Amino acid sequence: MATQFQSNSVHLEDNIQTNLESDLALEMLRVVEAAAISSARQMGTGDRKYADHVATETMRHVMETVPMRGTIVIGEGERDEAPMLYIGEKVGRPPVDGVVYPEVDIAVDPLEGTNLCATGSPGSICVLAASERGGLLHAPDCYMEKIVVGPACKGAVDLEAPTSVNLENIAKALQRSVQDLVIIVLERPRHQKLISEIRQAGARIKLITDGDLAPGIAAAVLGTGVHAVMGTGGAPEGVITAAAMRCLNGYMVGRLVGYTDEQRERMTQYGIKDVTKIYTADELAPGKNIIFASTAVTDGALMRGVRFFGGGVRTSSLVMKMASRKVRFVDTIHMEQETDYSVRF
Ligand code: FBP
Repeated sequence: MATQFQSNSVHLEDNIQTNLESDLALEMLRVVEAAAISSARQMGTGDRKYADHVATETMRHVMETVPMRGTIVIGEGERDEAPMLYIGEKVGRPPVDGVVYPEVDIAVDPLEGTNLCATGSPGSICVLAASERGGLLHAPDCYMEKIVVGPACKGAVDLEAPTSVNLENIAKALQRSVQDLVIIVLERPRHQKLISEIRQAGARIKLITDGDLAPGIAAAVLGTGVHAVMGTGGAPEGVITAAAMRCLNGYMVGRLVGYTDEQRERMTQYGIKDVTKIYTADELAPGKNIIFASTAVTDGALMRGVRFFGGGVRTSSLVMKMASRKVRFVDTIHMEQETDYSVRF
């Protein structure tokens, strides 16, 4: 009898845990939707810092209503340099009536592509990834050299291989010629060699001014016209991209890079012993219960930017849960209270 009771209660706890995790994905959706709506009001103002501040403040505020014991593992910086969503900050709704909320590690980029929002250019998103404790690499604020590709290209790319070989392998895996590939690269002086190698190999290039996280997600979704993201971007963005790859069954390789003494020091502080190590998405985001949530601020390949209209706001989001293999494209109309409204398709 005791065993029966025990197994039932374990079952019940499992269910509660599952329900909480399932609800958590929708809670995280609320967080990124709210951040996108508030930062979208800053679109085109030219003030990227303020747009980021607004997104961070909103994200932080809404997180206070989420039933979780959250810890920010990738955020707006160290405690002394960021007032909100700093690394190590505890977030979540205070527990009531002895309910124990799940422990969650969270990587946030409240406004990815701050310049894109400030100039009203495509590709700005509000984004976060969450997992059980220890499920996201605590990457220091440095850079990451990476290649991001879709599920068909698993194992086809290698950071040590020549660019031409990687492109041939991607083309082969996608059953097309190298000339038909579109590769996304951040337009930076550090990428001059990479860009000329891609051009020499004959692939097409889309240079972007900022925001390599959203294109990384697009590379793992068929029909977006993006076949790979190559080059060096932010390491925190790299970990969040890896979380998305885990949910989309995509493939990614990345290596941490420190350009300045400060960045290299930070890598040492974070216990990175082997700076030559090449990580896969499984190592960057090893969690078993990864949740990914993102809402577009401005238009992108996968989601439409925030649209304001008389009586409401419309947002376009991507919410994914790795464990239950759910990829949800969510189109939400947030209606203002007390207004007479009509919903348009
Ligand atoms: P923001 O901090 O303005 O959102 O910049 C994001 C970003 O463009 C990332 O997408 C990219 O990984 C990184 O910055 C590149 O860094 P840098 O501008 O220093 O080359």
